[in-house]
This record gives sequence, structure tokens and C-alpha cells, in this order.
Amino acid sequence: MTTLEQGFAQQRSGLFDRFLSLTRTAEKRNERIIPEDVPLHLDVPALPGFRQEAATAEPEDPGHRPLSMSAMAAPIKPISLRRDSIYAAFNTAMPVTDRHGLAGRNSELEKLVEAIVVQRKHAVIFGTRGSGKTSLARVFGDLADEAGCIALYASANGEADFDSLFRPFLTELPMSSSGQERVRKMMGEPLDVSRLSALLVEEVRERSILIIDEYDRVQSETAKQEVATLLKLLTDIHSPVQVVLVGIASDIDGLIAAHPSLRRHLAPQRVAPIPKPELERLLLACAGNARLSIDDDALDMLAGAAMGSPYHARLFGMSAALVTEAGGRDRMVLSDIEQGLSSALEDWEEMSGQTHALFRRILWEAGSVPGNGRRMIALAAVVASQMSAISYERLVKLGHEVLGGGSINEGQARDAMARLQPALVPTPNGELWMFEDTLAPQFLLLMAKQPVQSAPPVQTPAEEMRALLKGVDGL
Ligand SMILES: Nc1ncnc2c1ncn2[C@@H]1O[C@H](COP(=O)(O)OP(=O)(O)OP(=O)(O)O)[C@@H](O)[C@H]1O
Ligand SMILES: [Mg+2]
Repeated sequence: MTTLEQGFAQQRSGLFDRFLSLTRTAEKRNERIIPEDVPLHLDVPALPGFRQEAATAEPEDPGHRPLSMSAMAAPIKPISLRRDSIYAAFNTAMPVTDRHGLAGRNSELEKLVEAIVVQRKHAVIFGTRGSGKTSLARVFGDLADEAGCIALYASANGEADFDSLFRPFLTELPMSSSGQERVRKMMGEPLDVSRLSALLVEEVRERSILIIDEYDRVQSETAKQEVATLLKLLTDIHSPVQVVLVGIASDIDGLIAAHPSLRRHLAPQRVAPIPKPELERLLLACAGNARLSIDDDALDMLAGAAMGSPYHARLFGMSAALVTEAGGRDRMVLSDIEQGLSSALEDWEEMSGQTHALFRRILWEAGSVPGNGRRMIALAAVVASQMSAISYERLVKLGHEVLGGGSINEGQARDAMARLQPALVPTPNGELWMFEDTLAPQFLLLMAKQPVQSAPPVQTPAEEMRALLKGVDGL
């Protein structure tokens, strides 16, 4: 796949042609094209200067190799090669680019290939932050390349308009020579929907797929309307170009204002939580790359805390692995996971102090009144992680199914929604609510599992200042 920002080497093996012919054969539709149980081969980026081989070259001190610190007054903690390989193995910053490293997404990949490559639909890939949207889109792009398409990948930014969204693709698309001439002439003028769609339909010579990541960042309503119109035009005139929009949303409406007639031609692909066994396999593979093993109960706790999110699985796994490493051991045990989760929570508090303070306060308040509403708040976290968005109705329904408790759920669901309100944003149709920080539900659940403090939580600096201002002009 071609990534527009990074330049690229086109790789087309043709291996996937076999796959395509299979999908086109009706009687073989039910056959699994991507086997369920392939071993995960994770990308572990090599870190300059700190190769794992170096550790074996220094048997007298396998754990630590201090940097030269003679010039420093007080030595800082030495950089450990094992810590280094833990950071690399559990890396949370890099999307997966190799299909063999993508856990639990076979059916999503198959659906995307069927909808976009075979049925020539446009697609919308959506999910919460860190759910693996970019990883899925990139691996899909490579599969599409192998199937004989040209997949081009770019990311949007907040200021993007229609022109800046599509112009970067123009020079990379497989265009006829007259098309290239038209593109050159269009360089001086802003792109508009009808001219771009005419160009794509008349001049693009091979099946092409334009993947626009981070589409949720686009602010301009006009740009979004124009993109919807482009998709509709391309569909109506059987264009060789399909568009895939990728971004944070709880449903398709969160990303695109789709006209009903366009809806039929759009394939919605939710990036759902990864099933626990797949997440466990991912964690085992990451630990293996860091030369660590994990006890069964420790693995269970780690995968459970991630609630289907590969980002949280890697983050929590990394935190726990660092605890194991600091203890000079190579087997991760339950207490390492407990400590690792606390330390991940502390790091999150540093980054998201306001949301953390809100959660701490509402959990304390809910725990200190009769009818303990903490369970309902924790359920809100679980529902948000599994279904992206929450609502009073969802909490009442799931409250009955999961917690039992009868009509008490209605009051508690109302209370939980009201308490969580400052951390929520409405979905575009206004019916549901998402956590503004879509990484937050896993941390909220961790906090809800902590014992209730007997004293009210300490105020944040802002809360302290507000208390000092009490009495000034109605405050
Ligand atoms: N299926 C998967 N298997 C293994 N690791 C995954 C998978 N999906 C995502 N990851 C890992 O989780 C982290 C987040 O993935 P990714 O960047 O693809 O998510 P995202 O939804 O695009 O995030 P954002 O909302 O921030 O753009 C990365 O470290 C990535 O390697
Ligand atoms: Mg992404």
C-alpha cells in the first residue's frame, strides 16, 4: 500500500489473486479465507544501539548496561536492555502494518475485501480511540494491493477541506496520459466535486482505493458534505475508485452525513472489541518477544482489564512487564499485573487529570450513599468499551440483564448518566453519549474496582481554587 506522507515502494505480489478468485466463487463463500488460528508475528521495531543480541554478548550483566554517566553529579537509573525490549514488544504507538501481527481481525478483513474489492462499495471504518482502526485499514490496504488494486493511504487533519483531502492522491493514482495532463492543469485551481469525479471516472486506469484516516478530525461541514456527494457520484457512475473513510465514531453517522441513497452503497465496518482469547494470544506474543512468560491467572486479569482494546492490552501489558523486569524475574505473575495496572492508572491520571478527578469524585459519592451506584457507573464503563456509546436506556436494559436489581436500576442509571455527564459528548444523532476521551472506560473500571476510600477524595488544584473563590460574586 502507498502511504502518501512517507513515500513508498509499491509491493504487489499477486498472491492475493487466489483469494479473490475464491471469494468470487459462490460455492466457496463459506470457506474461511484467512485461517482462524495463525500464529501472531508481531513487528518489533529495532531500537538503534540497543539490540537484543548485545545482551547475550555481555553475560556478566544480562539485565543492565549503564550508560556512561561519569560527567553527571548523581547517576540516573541505568537503561536496561530488557526494559528496552519490553517497550519494543508492547509498543502502543505503532499501528500494525503486517497482517500476521494483526490479532482477531480476520472476519473484519474478509468483510472489507468482499465489500470494497469485490462489490466495489465505499466503506467507513469506525471505532473508539485505540481500537485498531489504522491497523485494520493498513492491513486491508495491503490485501487490496495483493488483489490487484492500488491502495493509497493518507491522514486528514482538522483544517482539511475537500481540496486538501483529495489533492495528495492525484499524483499517485494510475492515470492515463491525458489524465495526467488534466491533473497538471488542475494544479492551479481548487478541486471541486464534479471535476474530481469526472477525472476519476474517465482517466483512472486501474482499480484504486483511497483510504482517508483520521477523518473524524475534519471540522468543515462543507467538506464532509462534498465528500458524501463525491461518494454518491462515484457510485452512480461505476467509478474504478473506491473511498474508505476511517475515524473515531460510534456509528457511521458520526463520520459521514450519508444521504439515504448513498447508505446502500456504503459498507460500515465497526472496529469492535477483540475477543478475549485473541487478546490473550496477542499478549502472549508480546510477552514472548520481550522474553517473558505469563501465568494463566495473570493473563486472564490483563486481558480482562483491556476489555477488548488492543491499545489497553499493550499498555497494561507493558506496565506489568516492567514490574516483572524490575523484580529481576522473567515470569509475569498476578501481583505484577495488579501493580502494573495501578501504575498505568497513575500515568493516565498525569495525562488526564480532570477526567480522573471527576471519576474519583463520582465513584466516592456513589459509594458513600445508600443503594451503591458504583456498580452502575462501572457498568457504564463496560458498556462504553463494548458498544462505543452509552445511554440511560442502555444502562437500564443492561442493568436488568447484568446486575439484576429490578427497578432500582432506573434511578441508578439516571444518576450514573448525570454524574458522568461532564466526561461525555453526544453522538451526532443526539441519542447516545460517548466518553469524550474514548480511552477512559478501561481506566474508569480499574478505578471502580479499587476499594472505597473512607475520606472524600483530595481536591484537585482547580477545585481548591474554586473553594477559595467561594462567596465572590455568587460563586
Ligand atoms: N488487531 C490488532 N492486533 C494487535 N495489535 C493491535 C491490533 N489493533 C491495534 N493494535 C495495536 O494497538 C495500538 C492502537 O492501534 P491503532 O493505532 O491501529 O488504533 P486506532 O484505532 O487507529 O487509534 P487512534 O484512534 O488513536 O487513531 C497500536 O499499538 C497497535 O499496534
Ligand atoms: Mg488511528
